[in-house]
Amino acid sequence: MRDFKHSTVYQIYIKSFCDSNGDGIGDLGGIRSRLPYLKSLGIDYIWVTPFFRSPMNDNGYDVADYYEVNPMFGTLEEAMDMIREAREMGIGFMFDMVFNHTSTEHAWFQKALRGDPEYMDYYIFRDGKDGQPPTNWESKFGGNAWEYVPSLGKWYLHLFDRTQADLNWDNPKVREEMKNVIRFWKDAGVCGFRFDVVNLISKPDIFEDDHEGDGRRFYTDGHHVHEYLQELVRDTGIAEMVTVGEMSSTSLENCIRYTMPERGELSMCFSFHHLKVDYAGGNKWALAEPDLKSLRNLFGTWQEEMMKAEGWNALFWCNHDQPRVVSRLGDDQLYWKRSAKMLAMFIHLMRGTPYIYQGEELGMTNAGFTDIGQYRDVESINYHRILREAGLSEEETLQVLGARSRDNGRTPMQWTPGENAGFSAGEPWIGVPENHTFINVESEEKDPDSILQFYRKLVALRKESDLIALGGIRFLETGNERVIAYERTMDGKILTVVCSFSKEREEISDPVLCERIRDGKLFLAADADTAAQYAEMNEKLVLAALDGIAVAR
Ligand code: GLC
Ligand code: CA
Repeated sequence: MRDFKHSTVYQIYIKSFCDSNGDGIGDLGGIRSRLPYLKSLGIDYIWVTPFFRSPMNDNGYDVADYYEVNPMFGTLEEAMDMIREAREMGIGFMFDMVFNHTSTEHAWFQKALRGDPEYMDYYIFRDGKDGQPPTNWESKFGGNAWEYVPSLGKWYLHLFDRTQADLNWDNPKVREEMKNVIRFWKDAGVCGFRFDVVNLISKPDIFEDDHEGDGRRFYTDGHHVHEYLQELVRDTGIAEMVTVGEMSSTSLENCIRYTMPERGELSMCFSFHHLKVDYAGGNKWALAEPDLKSLRNLFGTWQEEMMKAEGWNALFWCNHDQPRVVSRLGDDQLYWKRSAKMLAMFIHLMRGTPYIYQGEELGMTNAGFTDIGQYRDVESINYHRILREAGLSEEETLQVLGARSRDNGRTPMQWTPGENAGFSAGEPWIGVPENHTFINVESEEKDPDSILQFYRKLVALRKESDLIALGGIRFLETGNERVIAYERTMDGKILTVVCSFSKEREEISDPVLCERIRDGKLFLAADADTAAQYAEMNEKLVLAALDGIAVAR
């Protein structure tokens, strides 16, 4: 079994990572050229987002051929070289398997469109109701989830874009096709997989309208999902590899089942509840201040319950679908450096496997776009229209996108203070934030106190310390909603982590917590300057804005 408990995973969004040929688009050559940098971070695995043949309506999450490399990103040979070169450095690749749907340009879908019954059964085609879609379900990218095909007189299901048709996993042939894809890349030498929205693969037997929501309760963690995952893992022999499932709107009970080792499903899963605490009324497109009480309770419950059941969490703040955390829960102006470090230590000292999303280790911020013309993402462009139609002004709409668009996490990796942040010699496919002049690898390599160096330290700590990798976890009372604390324990050792999510100074007077901090030894601090003052504290702990400390005993 591969060790994933002392490990850290780095996520690459290929289109925005590094461009090797000046066409403005990141590529495999770019990744290969940056392997030494990734090695220097100490990470063990790289999850790279899909680079397979695709019309790119959803930047590669619309796969037209699982065995071919999109020429925009390079060749199959280069992919093989990349896997081998990383291996030689002790880094394993995890490839991204988009198995809930294919692009409508996939040969299977094209055959289905021509009315071939064998291939129609690869997808979910249904009759409409009096000229209307079969159900009222909504696509996750806006609009109804069914698309009509006049030549067939039927509708097909697409939980995402209309060019991403959902596969019919109840068809054993589809399951065999997916196993073959896994076998192919396993033979190519990858060491693991990330499974895209994999908890949506099992659809209900009967399709009915949802009068309470958008339909997700009928297909999320569906009735055959565990069985299908077990079959996939067993028949491809990947139980010993590192696997992570992306779980959309999932439940704790299901994530325990997905990751309990003896069930033979996955190593770990991503869940997203902690990234919805700033959605007003659960709506991504309505801004609200983060609800820190829920943030604390969500982490507390998931961490403690997963531990009890021997499940395993993937730990993360950022990915290619999320705004940048330093802009979201930190402060990308006044307390940029300190808050980025606080957020990092909060995640990296927990129980689970941490993921670093490209640029997070630099404290990269949201894009700062001010015009709809700067946006590229299909979801953002759809919601721009939907929000305008709902009556928001252009300014209000741009404010929402500025906080919520997936493009916030997709701006080019900032390598240097120079032109295009050193990402490309050509015009990047999406704009580069102005702050690349000081937020970039080159500058942060030179600064011993940089966010980059702090991430290196966190990665190294998890490798060295069984307490961090394997220890127990318990969330503590702080008596202050804006300050979240937890302890890690092992063999009588205790590590106490205290993080403030407040933009003001905060007082902690809980006597037990204060005593621990007073009597413990400072293990890690988000800010070396403020750390000194904690050593001198008396009765109360006064935490600086967005600061974090960890104390060992
Ligand atoms: C996942 C991916 C996202 C994609 C969606 C549909 O959520 O992370 O980028 O749009 O699945 O494949
Ligand atoms: Ca390129």
